[in-house]
Amino acid sequence: MKITILAIESSCDETSAAIISDGKVLNNIIATQSVHEKYGGVVPELASRAHQQHLIPVIHEAIASSGIAKEELSAIAFTRGPGLMGSLMVGVSFAKAMAFALDIPLIDINHMQAHILAHFIEDPKPKFPFICLTVSGGHTQLVLVKDYLDMEVIGETTDDAVGEAFDKTAKLMGLPYPGGPLIDKYAKEGNPKAFEFPVSDMPGLNFSFSGIKTAVLYFLRDRLKENPQFIEENLADIAASVQYTLIKMLMQKLKKAANQYKIKEIAIAGGVSANSGLRDELASLAQKHHWNVYVPKFEYCTDNAAMIAMAAHYKYLKGEFVGLDVVPEARMKI
Ligand code: KG4
Ligand code: ZN
Repeated sequence: MKITILAIESSCDETSAAIISDGKVLNNIIATQSVHEKYGGVVPELASRAHQQHLIPVIHEAIASSGIAKEELSAIAFTRGPGLMGSLMVGVSFAKAMAFALDIPLIDINHMQAHILAHFIEDPKPKFPFICLTVSGGHTQLVLVKDYLDMEVIGETTDDAVGEAFDKTAKLMGLPYPGGPLIDKYAKEGNPKAFEFPVSDMPGLNFSFSGIKTAVLYFLRDRLKENPQFIEENLADIAASVQYTLIKMLMQKLKKAANQYKIKEIAIAGGVSANSGLRDELASLAQKHHWNVYVPKFEYCTDNAAMIAMAAHYKYLKGEFVGLDVVPEARMKI
């Protein structure tokens, strides 16, 4: 009998469902919530409501397009955390009800582990042990990955996530949410050394990204006093300088981690790994230090259920199931 799992992701602002059969991802249906755009960030209450609306249609589509009947499912998997409590509750409650109705096992997945296991959906796959830099709107972590389900956080942000730093500085520049991709776009035309912003250096392998937001706030306030058109006239240079500083902070710690653990297998994950400046810098570091670098397809970098399904496959093989009394964990650790 095949191992076929339905996986559900609802930790933040994407509602997603995927089916995996014997380790092969068959589909990855994602409904993105546009309701947050006008607020300049994710509004938790609205996210939960949108998950309620999107979840059943997304699951229907995943099941229908896989050609597999509900009765053939071996297990139901869901994101248990970390994430927004209300959003997680929607996915967890549905997964429990479905596992109960079909009388099949339930698998709880750590969203951060899943981001890393997205590397095993398609080739080329990193070899153990590897280091993964997970960078998104909610997370910034350096993880030592010893095996599929054996991971250790060796560094993380002590305040904002790097994606948040991109989005918040973009907002100060008058750009809509999410601003990360727009900074990337404008940065291509700008001079990364035009303006200098502080590079924080936290102890060990930890990061701090809240300082740059404040630095950009005061910098823009002072320049706008002299020239009200300052942002419009310097958009590309500001974007390039902000991006340069953020990438520098990320790469500084990634290099340190690779040296410290003597590892040359390097992976990145999360929405910010789409950033072209980050990809270029990673490619040049790979050449310089003889690293093998792995970047999943963009569809598997941002929040998606395919990565939850991949993680669920490995947990199924180990027989790691949870009872129907399971609850979400907003601050779940790897
Ligand atoms: O992984 P993700 O889709 O969701 C979270 O789990 O947070 O990441 C979203 C984050 C946002 O902060 C967005 O601005 C950022 O990824 N992002 C980028 C780029 N594309 C997405 N940041 C910089 N450059 C990009 N090209
Ligand atoms: Zn995520």
